[in-house]
Order: sequence, then structure tokens, then C-alpha cells
Amino acid sequence: MIQTLVLTRPDDFHVHLRDGVGLNALVPITAAQFERALVMPNLKPPVTTVAMAAAYRDRILAARAPGQSFSPLMTLYLTDRTPVDEVARVADADFVVGFKYYPAGATTNSDSGVTALANIYKVLEAMQKHGVVLCIHGEVTHAEVDVFDREARFVDDQLAQIVRDFPALKVVVEHITTTEAAQFVSAAGPNVAATITPQHLLYNRNAIFTGGIRPHFYCLPILKRESHRQSLMDVATSGSAKFFLGTDSAPHAKGTKENACGCAGCFTAHAAMELYAGAFDAVGALDKLDDFASRFGAAFYGLPRNTGTVTLKRESWTPPSEFAFGTDSVVALTVGQTLDWKLETAQ
Ligand code: DOR
Ligand code: ZN
Repeated sequence: MIQTLVLTRPDDFHVHLRDGVGLNALVPITAAQFERALVMPNLKPPVTTVAMAAAYRDRILAARAPGQSFSPLMTLYLTDRTPVDEVARVADADFVVGFKYYPAGATTNSDSGVTALANIYKVLEAMQKHGVVLCIHGEVTHAEVDVFDREARFVDDQLAQIVRDFPALKVVVEHITTTEAAQFVSAAGPNVAATITPQHLLYNRNAIFTGGIRPHFYCLPILKRESHRQSLMDVATSGSAKFFLGTDSAPHAKGTKENACGCAGCFTAHAAMELYAGAFDAVGALDKLDDFASRFGAAFYGLPRNTGTVTLKRESWTPPSEFAFGTDSVVALTVGQTLDWKLETAQ
């Protein structure tokens, strides 16, 4: 049985670091594992311009712990009014690598998102021309569509159209959760990829309801039934370069999760590589983890491979249940759990 894993230093291609007082706690946690991370722009107000992304990036860099070499990669938040000119500014700014498409109302802080795909067609055309990546939250938002069907409907209603109308556009379908999304991405060209979170690899929707309602397992897109989880495990461990690591670690203050109307988001940054190692280990695919965590994402984004390493050891341990989050705390997805892998060193 493998006891030690030495991997290339990984990158997290989807994380929420928030802003203000929370940032100082969150950046060192992600930077303890990852060399780079793609930072989501759904702040209040959202990060919609290169100038705003530059200022946010400076705040992230200032929040690193002494000695940490972490590099944030920024995204801009697409709105109905994103000017086409912003695309050229993104193409010129090497620290901004893409735009995030939130359908308006799909998730946390998506009120300023896109209300109709037609509203961003000119911008998508410019992104295709400049080689700028489109990161997609792939869920339809119609109230009448069952919450468990919203991703599959998005694949049919919007993703197929985007890929058909912009055949050279680089697209990342973020945090895929369904067989339908996995199949669509597998069948598409090399310019279409997907990120997969640890929670969608490890859990099915029963986890939200085991013995009562468990708000820390609630994220969007919501966990799906077991057959979908298995499809995600299959593609994540297949060796296909189209599927790579993006935690979607999304902290919310404890009181806003444990609430009559709890926020969506799972906090996993404190044990991200340990969770992925557990998932890959469960199917005997630890040999596939290095490519998934440290190579395929960088290759898709045209970035060099990291030169450092991380070492994980097979060891039973219990992560802290809560972490400081500004003046509040955030409860980890792993609360009450024992993990089988532990990150020993990252350099
Ligand atoms: O569960 C989620 N939380 N899904 C998202 O898409 C956004 C995120 C957040 O920002 O909290
Ligand atoms: Zn997210």
C-alpha cells in the first residue's frame, strides 16, 4: 500500500478568497497547499474590470503569510454590460486569465450576472479572438426547473450553443456535477475542459440529509445522486487532460450556513489535497492525481508547470472543525470526519 505521495506542487483552478477581513485568514490556507489559484470574482461589488482585478490581486498578495510564494490568477465577472474593449485589456494583463459567466441568480452574489446569453455574444466573440478563457457556472436559473436538473438543462440549452457558435473559444465548465456535463466535455474538442471539486467526487446527495439536514454539504451546483458521482470519478481518474482540479472552496460565516436560509458553499481549502487523495485512493488511482492536480489545468491555461512539490502521508487525522474568518468563523466541510491522508510539506 502506498504510504507517501510526492506530487508536483498543485494549482487550484477555482477558489473563493472573498475580501476584507476574511482575506487575511483565507489566503494563507490556500497558499499552504497550492502554488497558484484561479480566484473567483463574485465579490460585492463584483470584480468587473482589469483595474479592479489588479487592486484585488494586490490585496491577496498582501494577505500571504511570510515566505509564501503563492500567485493568484484573476477572473473578471461578466455582466450584461461588459464592454467588448475589456477583453483586449484582459488579453494584455497576464495576471487575468479569464471571464466568469454566472447566469443571473444562479448562486452566491450572482445578481449582477448575465440575464440572457445573447447579451454577451459580442464579448464571447472577442474572447475567442484573443484566446481568453470563459469559465462557466453551468446551471439554468428558471424557478420551475428542478434544482437537481439545472446543470443538465444548462448543457442542453446553453453550453451546446456556446460551443457550437464559438468553436475555438476556450471554455472551462466549472465544478461539474453530472454525467451529462462529463459526457459533453469528454466529447468536445480540446478547447473545452472542466474542473471538479472534492465534494462532488466524494459525496452524493445523501450526504446533505444523513440523520438530519447538514448545511455544510450544501453547495451549488448541489450534490447529485450516486451514478453522477461515479461518472465524475471516472473522468477525473481517466487520465483525460480535460478534467482538472478546482476546489470551489467557498467559505461563509458559520451563522449564515447554519441558518433558516443557509448559504451555498463548502469550505475545503484547509484539506483540499487530502480530500482529493482520499477520493483517488478509494478507486486505486493515486497514480493519476499528479496530472489532475498539477499538470492538466496549467496546460489548459497555457501556464508553466510548477517546479515545487507537495508530500502527502497516509495518516489518520482530524482537521480542525472551524477556522477564523474575519471576526467570525467558517465551519469546514470535514467537520466530524477523520481523513486518511495528510499534507506534510509543500515547497
Ligand atoms: O456553492 C457555491 N458557493 N457555489 C457557487 O457557485 C458560489 C459559491 C460562493 O461564492 O459561495
Ligand atoms: Zn465557485
